Amino acid sequence: MTQDTLEGLFVSELKDLYSAENQLTKALPKMAKAARCEELQQGFVDHLQKTQQHIERLKEIFKRLDKEPGGKKCKAMEGLIKEGAEVIEENKKESATLDAGLICAAQKVEHYEISGYGSVKAWAGLLGLTSEAALLNKTLEEEIETDSNLTKLATGHINKEALSGSNGSGDNGEETNGGDKHSTNRIKRTKNRMR
Ligand SMILES: [Fe+2]
Ligand SMILES: [Fe+2]
Repeated sequence: MTQDTLEGLFVSELKDLYSAENQLTKALPKMAKAARCEELQQGFVDHLQKTQQHIERLKEIFKRLDKEPGGKKCKAMEGLIKEGAEVIEENKKESATLDAGLICAAQKVEHYEISGYGSVKAWAGLLGLTSEAALLNKTLEEEIETDSNLTKLATGHINKEALSGSNGSGDNGEETNGGDKHSTNRIKRTKNRMR
């Protein structure tokens, strides 16, 4: 079906986001289960609740527009979720490396959603749909906040633990310190390879 109106494009993109959010509700519990860091686990659980609110907001917008939310599958989210599943398969269970990979996969999802919500929010404003634009903006802000929380977790400690090969919880001093010697050797090896 071809579209030549901004309203048609707006509804089509809302359907894409509705499909994306629904797919995500099935993937987030698996990501939470695979995460080793408790803060990351909690982050995925919290974002699942937010994702359910995002779905409710989209349903509300479809109702106001007198349109049906279904009928479209977001292929990009399907691919991003598959990549997340690969991260879980390819990395050692309970490892900081797996956590770092999960954050990367989750941030790809958030960036996809941020792009979509940024566009539909702008289009809603242009179409004079002020309250719909406000609802979409709420979701957009939550996606941005989630992305920023993931960055904080990665740069705060998870990336460093992945570098040192730590499999501890991050607050387990013994395992983290135990990884220090390995970390130094690994950095030396990496530097040698880069020469
Ligand atoms: Fe969302
Ligand atoms: Fe999200």
